[in-house]
Amino acid sequence: MTSREASRRVDELREEIRRHDHRYYVLDDPEISDARYDALMRELRELEETHPGLRTPDSPTQRVGGAPAGAFGVVVHAVPMLSLENAFTEQDVRDFDRRVRERLDVESVRYSAEPKIDGLAISVRYEHGRLACAATRGDGTRGEDVTANVRAIRSVPLSLRVPSPPAVLEARGEVFMRRSSFELVNRRAAERGEKTFVNPRNAAAGSLRQLDPSITANRALDVYFYGLGAVEGWPVPPRHSEVLAALRQLGLRTCPATDVVDGIEGCLDYHARIGRARDELGYDIDGVVYKVDRLDWQRDLGFVARAPRWAIAHKFPAQEETTVVLDVEFQVGRTGALTPVARLKPVFVGGVTVSNVTLHNMDELARKDVRVGDTVVVRRAGDVIPEVVRVVTDLRPDDARVVELPARCPECGSHVSRAEGEAVARCSGGLVCGAQRREALRHFASRRAMDVEGLGDKLVEQLVAADRVRTPADLYTLTADELAALDRMGSKSAANVVAALGRSRRTTLPRFLYALGIRDVGEATALALAGHFGTLERLEAASREDIEDVRDVGPIVAAHVRDFFDEERNREVIAALRRHGVHWPEAEAPRAATSGRLAGETLVITGTLEGYTRDEARAAARAAGAKVTDSVTRKTTMLVAGADAGSKLRKAQELGVPVVEEAEFRRRLGAGAGSGD
Ligand code: IVH
Repeated sequence: MTSREASRRVDELREEIRRHDHRYYVLDDPEISDARYDALMRELRELEETHPGLRTPDSPTQRVGGAPAGAFGVVVHAVPMLSLENAFTEQDVRDFDRRVRERLDVESVRYSAEPKIDGLAISVRYEHGRLACAATRGDGTRGEDVTANVRAIRSVPLSLRVPSPPAVLEARGEVFMRRSSFELVNRRAAERGEKTFVNPRNAAAGSLRQLDPSITANRALDVYFYGLGAVEGWPVPPRHSEVLAALRQLGLRTCPATDVVDGIEGCLDYHARIGRARDELGYDIDGVVYKVDRLDWQRDLGFVARAPRWAIAHKFPAQEETTVVLDVEFQVGRTGALTPVARLKPVFVGGVTVSNVTLHNMDELARKDVRVGDTVVVRRAGDVIPEVVRVVTDLRPDDARVVELPARCPECGSHVSRAEGEAVARCSGGLVCGAQRREALRHFASRRAMDVEGLGDKLVEQLVAADRVRTPADLYTLTADELAALDRMGSKSAANVVAALGRSRRTTLPRFLYALGIRDVGEATALALAGHFGTLERLEAASREDIEDVRDVGPIVAAHVRDFFDEERNREVIAALRRHGVHWPEAEAPRAATSGRLAGETLVITGTLEGYTRDEARAAARAAGAKVTDSVTRKTTMLVAGADAGSKLRKAQELGVPVVEEAEFRRRLGAGAGSGD
């Protein structure tokens, strides 16, 4: 290749790479694969190596290159970089809008509304279209020269995409790190045993101030531009929203969530909208910014101290705050599970005051290594329950106390046990344990269980403390008179509770099973058990294997159910409940497994059947006396294989299990040829 040809090809490649950068980073609409992009870069890099004379500083290959920056130089901002006034309440924003309208003497103002990105401010200076200098905000007048690092950010173009670029254009914006990149950066750092960053903002700041620009490239920083600094030889459009559009035209990324809104109501609506979308943005924001859209009005309004009168930041409540762990206590749940709960110095976060946070279990506690006395980062995003994100280990006092699992239940003093390999520790006290009793009664009376209206937490607590109610059956012996004698109970509410207990006697089998509080038996499982066995007696008599036959019931849940009914005390409670009149309509008994055309068969259904859905086929097989299971084992006596049967068919063939097709299955069921009924 002659140098003329090389020069032409280099130009072509650069143009093409810039176009793809623009599509990828600015338009979010890449045309080519990463591999193809890398190939273009490789070709360009090779040509520049063989023809060093063709290498120019704005070549895409020079993003990460040159000498490390060394100590950062100082840049004096031609136009100072200001900050914003903050508004925390709706009233603050209304006051801002009123001041703006009064000064301008206008009825209503149109605003540019933008996310306030939680990163760090940057000013990028282009001279004759080429990236000349990039600087941090610093004190607003002087910043640090981070040109080499900013060049490594792929969404910052090294040259502007216009035929006749402005003599000078300073674009102001925010450098930030997406949450996904932040997680990746931290995971890599942790793997190498290096220090991790506290949040994406710190990671962005740390990366931008790295002395080795290639690290900046690794860390995938991003930028959104939101305004202008010094400009020469460029016609600035009359509105801020048009400035942003023009910056985009030049190849400078702007935030896609930016909008133009009318008046204060438009602002507040935008704030609410972005607030709802906050978690889905993929990057952290700490509020929104409203800016008077007309630039002539901005000039009229001017500045106070270091902030413009024409803009305001409307902050969101912080989602993360730090506070101190005062203590870690253990709460005992219905099934005896001990949950460590951190008692915190109250902290306002995510719009609420948080003073207790669950640490879930001992494994989670150990993983986060939370100690009493530690300073922790607490997060509450949206409606999500607050959590301890991490410990600020730098602030750990010498006397911070490691939390140990108590040997005895804090409620009843019974032994605490933790099965090997299990994260959850349990109190072995069963119904002796006041906490378990309380929780069991609360659950029994809850709306989706026996639905005893008026039997609230406080009442349950009193009844348990007085040892008046030990089991759910005791509830049905309560009288209005004795209830009325309790704290905070009038005779009217006492009568209401007794009436509600009376109504609750008439229930359904699924509700009753759910109300018993058998470990891992939620509403869906209770429904499936009731549907399968039809009566409580049949369920009580069922073996673990029989229970495993119920749809979606695995061996662990089946064992819990069996254990529950094996426990004499539980059977006594059930008998007492029935004596007190708790009843439900008996379902028609499913046909006994000893009769029916498929009696004695253990059957698996796989693939797609034509005449039945999978559930219909299972139900039909069960009605015909078969035991239907999910996986093919040596015990399986028949595999019904529909279309596209896969691994179960192979397994059946391996084990020599007889395989039948749909027509044969239908014949064995004794069903007609045309329908699945
Ligand atoms: S405008 C003169 N717009 O917030 C107006 N700032 O306290 C200057 N920020 O230092 C700022 N997103 O780092 C503006 N859409 C946005 C912003 C934004 C984030 C940051 C910026 C600035 C600070 C103001």
